[in-house]
Amino acid sequence: MGESTVAMGIDNDAGAAPNAPPQQLMERLKDYGQEHVFALWDELSPQERHLLLNDIQSLDLSRIDRIIRCSLRSHGLSVAAIEPVPESCVSSVEERTMEERERWWKMGLKAISEGKLAVLLLSGGQGTRLGSSDPKGCFNIGLPSGKSLFQLQAERILCVQRLATHAMNEAGSVAINWYIMTSPFTDDATRKFFESHKYFGLEADQVTFFQQGTIPCISKDGRYIMDTPYKVAKAPDGNGGVYSALKSSRLLEDMASRGIKYVDCYGVDNALVRVADPTFLGYFIDKGVAAAAKVVRKAYPQEKVGVFVRRGKGGPLTVVEYSELDQSLASAVNQQTGRLRFCWSNVCLHMFTLDFLNQVANGLEKDSIYHLAEKKIQSIHGYTMGLKLEQFIFDAFPYAPSTALFEVLREEEFAPVKNANGSNYDTPDSARLLVLRLHARWVVAAGGFLTHSVPLYSTGVEVSPRCSYAGENLESICRGRTFHAPCEITF
Ligand code: UTP
Repeated sequence: MGESTVAMGIDNDAGAAPNAPPQQLMERLKDYGQEHVFALWDELSPQERHLLLNDIQSLDLSRIDRIIRCSLRSHGLSVAAIEPVPESCVSSVEERTMEERERWWKMGLKAISEGKLAVLLLSGGQGTRLGSSDPKGCFNIGLPSGKSLFQLQAERILCVQRLATHAMNEAGSVAINWYIMTSPFTDDATRKFFESHKYFGLEADQVTFFQQGTIPCISKDGRYIMDTPYKVAKAPDGNGGVYSALKSSRLLEDMASRGIKYVDCYGVDNALVRVADPTFLGYFIDKGVAAAAKVVRKAYPQEKVGVFVRRGKGGPLTVVEYSELDQSLASAVNQQTGRLRFCWSNVCLHMFTLDFLNQVANGLEKDSIYHLAEKKIQSIHGYTMGLKLEQFIFDAFPYAPSTALFEVLREEEFAPVKNANGSNYDTPDSARLLVLRLHARWVVAAGGFLTHSVPLYSTGVEVSPRCSYAGENLESICRGRTFHAPCEITF
């Protein structure tokens, strides 16, 4: 990142700020059509001039210019011909046998006990829709336990570690390495949250934080938006920024040195996420693919979710966003199965081999094509509509030599926390209810009873990951017992 200070002719650390923007830097900015960043130079104090120079100096101007040009040019171009995902690439819930599930569960636990799985959390987003000033993972969605999203995930990792240790009769204990991607907007608060909660029972050295990059926010004509007269507005470079962040922080080497072969990757804002799911891992290993995704069935044709498609005849699987999918294709039905032709929704639950991550970390950057997201951006003129440049985690799929999809039930594994309470969908309230209802079903299936003073549809119980990961092993705790909802069931 960044051209060298010497090459720019800037000395930022010492002496008075120059009276005019350094000529050489100005020329370079002119080349890229960004010289307006110095428009308010004359009004800046010496200290602000230094800040501005440092800020511009920290930008890799030519790389950013390439990204802006490529992304603006390709924006809105129609998606290449697409086809439905072949049935052979999908394991659907209905066709999965009990024998397969058990086999995958055991295979997954074995690989976990051998230290081959790492968990990779995408947690660098700004969570603007949720409107909390803390990172999303710190958010308490109002479960009886009051646990944050981070805590729920940490305890599920602890639970899988116990299951793997137990299944393999290991003498020592199994540790799953957890890599947490933050951004400059979430890094400090995330680290402090983990420290103050003693890593939720995990060992501090099995948790690794690393930061993703940021990139300037731009106007529709590709010019940087100024956050203040001496600072360019920047945003994280999307959850697909994880590939270059893993590379630049040398964490792919770190994973290899620890013997990690598989990486389970997910977004922070799913209250039902089955982190380090042994069944999914076993399926992935069994299929021998480079990449896999858990998918849910699209609820209705116009649902605003990205779906997996095959690009061209025999091409790779990839995700097409709802805005890019033609209306007639979105509602087309497969006459044989009666399902939507494009029915497999992406919910940001992925598994990759480490080899594939290495390959992608090099390939994606070369493409220089980022998605353009029109968002409200804080600027010197107040909030203004502008463009954020983002790569997406699923941009990797077209590079995968082989991909498999694994259908899961929405009500079991997908409780998104996107919007603030009061919005119509994907709120902390709706996510809490999904957790309580699922866990209530587990308890009843294990022979427990529920009483409740509010209607059951608006409440339920929470099962601590200390007791169960996915509804297993609950009989000894629940059979014949009555629980008053809402409550947490724990040891
Ligand atoms: P979203 O696309 O929902 O974005 O992220 P967000 O930042 O959480 O929320 P809004 O759009 O500002 O309201 C999906 C997942 O990708 C992560 C988020 O932290 C979340 O886990 N993400 C998103 C990143 O890690 N980095 C990013 O640059 C963007």
